[in-house]
Amino acid sequence: MIPTSLDWCQTQDANDPLAPMKDRFDLPEGIIYMDGNSLGVLPKGVKERVADVVSREWGTDLIKSWNTADWINLPSRVGAKIAPLVGAKPSEVVMADSTSINIFKVAAAACAMNKGRTKVISEPGNFPTDLYMLQGLTEFLGPDYTLEIVDRDKIVDAIDDNTAVVLLTHVHYVTADMFDMAGITKAAHDKGALMVWDLSHSTGAVPVDLNDAGADFAIGCGYKYLNGGPGAPAFVYVAERHLGKAKQPLTGWFGHANPFDFVDTFRPAADIRRMLVGTTGVLAASAFETALEAFDGVDMQVVRKKSQALTDLFIALCREKLSGYGVGIVTNENPAKRGSHVSLSCDDGYAVVQALIERGVIGDFRAPNFMRFGFTPLYLGFEDTYRAVEIMAEIFQTGVWKEPRFSAKGAVT
Ligand SMILES: Cc1ncc(COP(=O)(O)O)c(C=O)c1O
Repeated sequence: MIPTSLDWCQTQDANDPLAPMKDRFDLPEGIIYMDGNSLGVLPKGVKERVADVVSREWGTDLIKSWNTADWINLPSRVGAKIAPLVGAKPSEVVMADSTSINIFKVAAAACAMNKGRTKVISEPGNFPTDLYMLQGLTEFLGPDYTLEIVDRDKIVDAIDDNTAVVLLTHVHYVTADMFDMAGITKAAHDKGALMVWDLSHSTGAVPVDLNDAGADFAIGCGYKYLNGGPGAPAFVYVAERHLGKAKQPLTGWFGHANPFDFVDTFRPAADIRRMLVGTTGVLAASAFETALEAFDGVDMQVVRKKSQALTDLFIALCREKLSGYGVGIVTNENPAKRGSHVSLSCDDGYAVVQALIERGVIGDFRAPNFMRFGFTPLYLGFEDTYRAVEIMAEIFQTGVWKEPRFSAKGAVT
């Protein structure tokens, strides 16, 4: 039995080795933020960095800053800072574009490396953009190519000698179910397929070891647990053994071996920079670079331990305080098999989440009926978790969520 008393939660906070990390963030007073899996909070130093980039690097130094402020190497510098969080070498990761664009690039590169094989595999209910990008890619590659969407318990059996690529999201965006990265990667390799991992809900939340798992490619978001800011650039990983061979189809000048030669013929960079396309968005990239300092010296095993303790506590509190209100636990109750968020099913979930937000507890809602709560151990505590469930229980008890304003839907849910 997991203790669920307020006293116990306060003791956990008092003994939490990560508690001082909260000071690395600018969190609004009185907010319990449980949406870091969607948009991470503002790390300290980012405001100042962006202001400096705007006023000095851009405003005063103008175009010289491509050299004097080293703007040109922002993608590699940010990539190198992400690398230790995903178990990669600094030379294997680069910041680039959005996750959607990167999915297209790496899946296309993998198909090209596995010519003659025409099947791409993913799973139903994967994040929509993953499936949409693979649909677009396989249609674009022509009628020989198929996208097979296979239930997760049948994926290993579906991989065969016609499979070019398997693309999966390591931690599921709704359920938080976590794949066995090393096991699935091995199963793909045993059949000669290449493996792409979407790490959007993993990076900065759970320890990831791409090198150890033997993964071929990976991509992931910058704006979730990495706190890179709204619409932050994403990242791409290519295993060192593929770096000379992986050719992506969006052959823009930033991926050229020598962009400033201005020659007519594309020649890819020999290194990870071949995954770049066009000019870096310097403001967003600079914000992201400073945001990543929040992870300096952080041990991801300690983060994982706290994340599992927080999610265990949340699930236990939900069982205790929300019974009888039609709330189901969607997320796997085995902490080893889930990432760092918990989803609850609830028919009136949208309105309940809006009522929570009004009371300073920020989670989110995913159609058709999931309330999603992210646990970011660097700035969320045990008492926060206790209070969040206490407030949710009060919302159900009073029925306040039934007020019509909580059912009004914005463009973004
Ligand atoms: C698994 C996964 N992949 C990709 C994305 C988003 O991709 P993009 O940043 O290109 O919109 C998300 C966003 O939530 C996601 O959860």
